[in-house]
Amino acid sequence: MIVPSVLPADFARLGEEVAALEEAGVDRIQWDVMDGQFVPNITVGPDIVAAARKHTMLPFEVHLMVRTPELLAERWVDAGCERLIVHAESVVHLHRTLGHVRSLGVAAAVALNPATPALAVAHVLDLVDMVLVMTVNPGFGGQDYIATMEPKIADVRAMIDGRGLDVDIEVDGGISPATVDGAVRAGANVLVAGSALFRDPAGLGHAVDELRTLADAARTG
Ligand code: DX5
Repeated sequence: MIVPSVLPADFARLGEEVAALEEAGVDRIQWDVMDGQFVPNITVGPDIVAAARKHTMLPFEVHLMVRTPELLAERWVDAGCERLIVHAESVVHLHRTLGHVRSLGVAAAVALNPATPALAVAHVLDLVDMVLVMTVNPGFGGQDYIATMEPKIADVRAMIDGRGLDVDIEVDGGISPATVDGAVRAGANVLVAGSALFRDPAGLGHAVDELRTLADAARTG
């Protein structure tokens, strides 16, 4: 799966940008939500996501890089998000928060910052549809991929497969034609990309096709 981060998009034309992503053939859209506390940056709120909702049929996921993800969970669902990604480091009661997200009738996912070990998700894998292994320290687009996250991706993949669970592994940060092979061979099956899509001189469609072709080759090669 190819999932764009809209962080590099032209926020003055968000409706057109999400429609262009749909045209380019992506599988869903990720909204990076930052509160200036959990990460040193501030991005969008539910009202902006709701405004963009009218411009595409694509599913929305929200990556909550915030200190209190449980506070606005319902607002993100009302804004049209069908997957909420909660950072393991952002809450005291991760099991309760993920259970709450699931009780809202949407998919729940847990994210891990680079320094957080795979074991942090060992006791919530039954509550989630996806684990997001950050391949950069969250807060900004355009950073370098941290290849030392690949053993952690493999550990999470082993935990999931070892229990026969149907849980996706998403990676996010520095994903590009140069880095996708390592991430997929380690066990990731959902690829978030920002700069690699929006900065491709040949356009969004070309960038999506190139990433998907390289990912398929890594998966089958
Ligand atoms: C960073 C965000 C990422 C970022 C990806 O905190 O979670 O989604 O926007 O951008 P690139 O692909 O440019 O690293």
